[in-house]
Amino acid sequence: MQNFDYYNPTQIVFGKDRLSELDNLVPVDAKILITYGANSVKKYGTLSKVIESLKGREIVEFGGIEPNPKYETLMKAVSVVKNEKIDFLLAVGGGSVMDGTKFISIASEFEGDPTTILHHGFEPVPAKKTIPLATVVTLPATGSEMNCYGVVSFNGGKFVFYSPLTFPKFSILDPTLTFTLPKKQIANGIADTFIHTVEQYVTQPVDARFQDRTAEGILKTLIEIGVKTIENPEDYGTRANFMWCATNALNGLIGAGVPQDWTTHLIGHELTAFFGIDHGTTLAILQPSVWKHTKDQKKGKLLQYADRIWGLTEGEPEDIIEEAINKTRNFFETLGINTKLNSYGVKSEDIDDVINALRQKGLTALSETGEVSLDVSRKILEDAVG
Ligand code: NZQ
Ligand code: ZN
Repeated sequence: MQNFDYYNPTQIVFGKDRLSELDNLVPVDAKILITYGANSVKKYGTLSKVIESLKGREIVEFGGIEPNPKYETLMKAVSVVKNEKIDFLLAVGGGSVMDGTKFISIASEFEGDPTTILHHGFEPVPAKKTIPLATVVTLPATGSEMNCYGVVSFNGGKFVFYSPLTFPKFSILDPTLTFTLPKKQIANGIADTFIHTVEQYVTQPVDARFQDRTAEGILKTLIEIGVKTIENPEDYGTRANFMWCATNALNGLIGAGVPQDWTTHLIGHELTAFFGIDHGTTLAILQPSVWKHTKDQKKGKLLQYADRIWGLTEGEPEDIIEEAINKTRNFFETLGINTKLNSYGVKSEDIDDVINALRQKGLTALSETGEVSLDVSRKILEDAVG
């Protein structure tokens, strides 16, 4: 196992009817900015429940944070924070609202050009102070509720940022708030959770047994309940299990002390930026193809994945790995996700744009070993087209 630091200060408030506890969770004297997306929190009553439980508090609202939140929108919220002297942010929504709120948290206290917040990638933003934030999760997928990362769209690209100061103070995870999600969003959330897990698990073996077995537990749970929670949106048990998997797939636990490979995410972000494909869907499209082109470097872990997740042990290693990749693709398809890029109108000739964007960002040696060059990324994309 590799050396690691593990720090996670987010309090999780999990279960039915927990929104009423908001009043005790938010600091007594806080002036609160509630942030949300387009309409779902109003339509399904979550916002009014939040406001009800914070009755008598000083509250300002900021709605309209779009999926793949835009820098320009978030800077409008930063003005509100400054003008209204806000000192607590409460994000009510999915990954986009939570991530956007992390950006608002940093940018509101940032000295200098706020666009530079997006220049640090997997290095921490040099933020000295942030506005404290918390979340009420309405879409389980990103793990943003228990990590300090965010992704923001700017100038036609998507940019990752983080600071140890943007862990939510607390996150309310009430599975019943997710019952209204369309099937497509649940499928995206399951795919996102699955890929977060494999990008920290299907890498190089380092004898990290707890991390491996925990990752396998998440994957097996998703396979067990994935279709069920899509087909039975109000079944509390399956939804609760999915929600807790989503949080634990990206809160640092399974990634501590192991190599990580964010190839699928980094190429996937470009597919969202260029073609508007949902985040989770981009990952389901790319992962089979990523493994096809990294199977030599990942042979040990792919065989472990094939055995422990899919029960594949008989035959030549090559065949076992191919079968595991097929089963993975098939799992995404059973969730209702079409895993070929051409079904989204993307053609081979569009790949150049993606490769150029990767080059511009310096993403030229991806994966845990750095073996995914731009040439390999191109092959991955060409295969993914269909
Ligand atoms: O805007 P509203 O009307 O609220 O509708 C939203 C939105 O259109 C809807 N929705 C959310 N909760 C709902 C609901 N509809 C009905 N009932 C509910 N309970 O869902 C739509 C999509 O929401 P969004 O927040 O965009 O989805 P998701 O949670 O998948 O977040 C995706 C974003 O997170 C980033 C992605 O890049 C993308 O920008 N990620 C963040 C990560 C992190 N912070 O660690 C890691 C991830 O890998 C990912 O990159
Ligand atoms: Zn993701």
